[in-house]
Amino acid sequence: MTTSPPSPLQPPTVRPIVAEDAAQVREDLLANWGSTQIWSLGRRYDADRLEGFVAEIDGRHAGSLTLALHDGAWQCEVITLASRVERRGVGAALLVAAENRARSLGCKRIFLTTTNDNVHAMRFYQRRGWRFSALHAGIVDRVRRYVPTYPLVGLEGIEIHDEIEVERWVG
Ligand SMILES: CC(C)(COP(=O)(O)OP(=O)(O)OC[C@H]1O[C@@H](n2cnc3c(N)ncnc32)[C@H](O)[C@@H]1OP(=O)(O)O)[C@@H](O)C(=O)NCCC(=O)NCCS
Repeated sequence: MTTSPPSPLQPPTVRPIVAEDAAQVREDLLANWGSTQIWSLGRRYDADRLEGFVAEIDGRHAGSLTLALHDGAWQCEVITLASRVERRGVGAALLVAAENRARSLGCKRIFLTTTNDNVHAMRFYQRRGWRFSALHAGIVDRVRRYVPTYPLVGLEGIEIHDEIEVERWVG
């Protein structure tokens, strides 16, 4: 009896979010942030209404990224990035799609913020060539005054107080 070789791991494909992706994107947001409302730099975003990209592997949803434009498209902010199938290139492919989108819109800079507990994300972005551009010390504490449900303890048991801004110049 012959056995067929295992199928090779398929790389992720990435495409813009369409209306039919709403439920999956919402699931990504709830799984990672517990809400579709995301705070960054003291601003609140309804991330389920933003433009962005989804990644698929073998036709199945594998992750999503949402984006917001600022300052007349001078710069572009990644609001959320979530991978359901880690270490298969989903995060990197979504980030490259966001960089290309920013470039195509004429943005000079693309940036995002991550909270101080997310050491894995800080590593991930730096490995992809993004650089730290600012520390927003205590900004989460200030947001928490108005949003008491914002959790105090984050990843790896680290208290969440700050946002770290990371950027890439694309213009
Ligand atoms: C951060 C996050 C988006 C990364 O997503 P991911 O899909 O695991 O990212 P990738 O697969 O592209 O890259 C992760 C690592 O896997 C490696 N990798 C990619 N494909 C691989 C493969 N086929 N085999 C082995 N390793 C692989 C990459 O090289 C990378 O390692 P490196 O950073 O040392 O180079 C993901 O961990 C996540 O969703 N975290 C929770 C939400 C979050 O924190 N988002 C960021 C908020 S700002």
